Amino acid sequence: RRENKLWHGKNVLVTAGPTQEEIDPVRFFSNRSSGKMGYAIAEMAAARGANVTLVTGPSSLPQPHGVQVVSVRTAQEMYDAVVSRYAHTNVVIKAAAVADYRPKHTFTNKMKKSDGNIEVEMERTTDILKTLGSQKTGQLLVGFAAESENIEENAKKKIAAKNLDVIAANSVTEAGSGFQGDTNALTLYFANGNEASIPLTTKKDAASQLLDHIKPLLEGQ
Ligand code: PMT
Repeated sequence: RRENKLWHGKNVLVTAGPTQEEIDPVRFFSNRSSGKMGYAIAEMAAARGANVTLVTGPSSLPQPHGVQVVSVRTAQEMYDAVVSRYAHTNVVIKAAAVADYRPKHTFTNKMKKSDGNIEVEMERTTDILKTLGSQKTGQLLVGFAAESENIEENAKKKIAAKNLDVIAANSVTEAGSGFQGDTNALTLYFANGNEASIPLTTKKDAASQLLDHIKPLLEGQ
């Protein structure tokens, strides 16, 4: 079918899940991402005939059918896995919730407690999407934005700052949307100024609609 033909043979790289940033052998900083949104996108893209690689942070979800899965833990590992595959990728969809900061020092041994408080110095991780945006050679780059306020303004800023083609914004405070649950509502902002909304639905259906919305951008590839 013409509908799926554009996806055939396309190399699609999807990221999903949280990252974990270690402070010692038993403790880490992370976030509430379950991986559901990214796994749904990977599954739907594979069902359309794309060659899908899913780079995923720690998640308890089963591996989607027909997808090559690359498991990573830290933001740096995700960076390496994504950037090393970028040259051979047609479409990147970044649904992962990547840590923006990691502990500056990782202790080799478990930290001992004392009665006093402690301070943990955090340093920035490298922004994967921004790197991809600056190294673009025709790839279609789709980012996500998880926002709790000024969604539209912040999402649009990210398009320009990271040289994206599309950004999918979800509210993390709206009921039924964002982290962990089985449903999501998305607003897509395109670099050309177009917008599209995907009202609250299952993450699988939202993934399907997202792929349909970005499909016209594949025509030029
Ligand atoms: O996994 P689920 O439980 O299903 O939840 C889905 C989700 C809410 C995690 C997902 O829909 C989502 O919004 N993912 C992006 C979350 C996020 O980290 O947004 P952000 O606004 O902080 O980051 C913007 C974009 O930059 C994201 O595409 C992110 O992957 C990327 N990024 C961020 C930091 C970094 N160091 N490198 C990046 O590439």
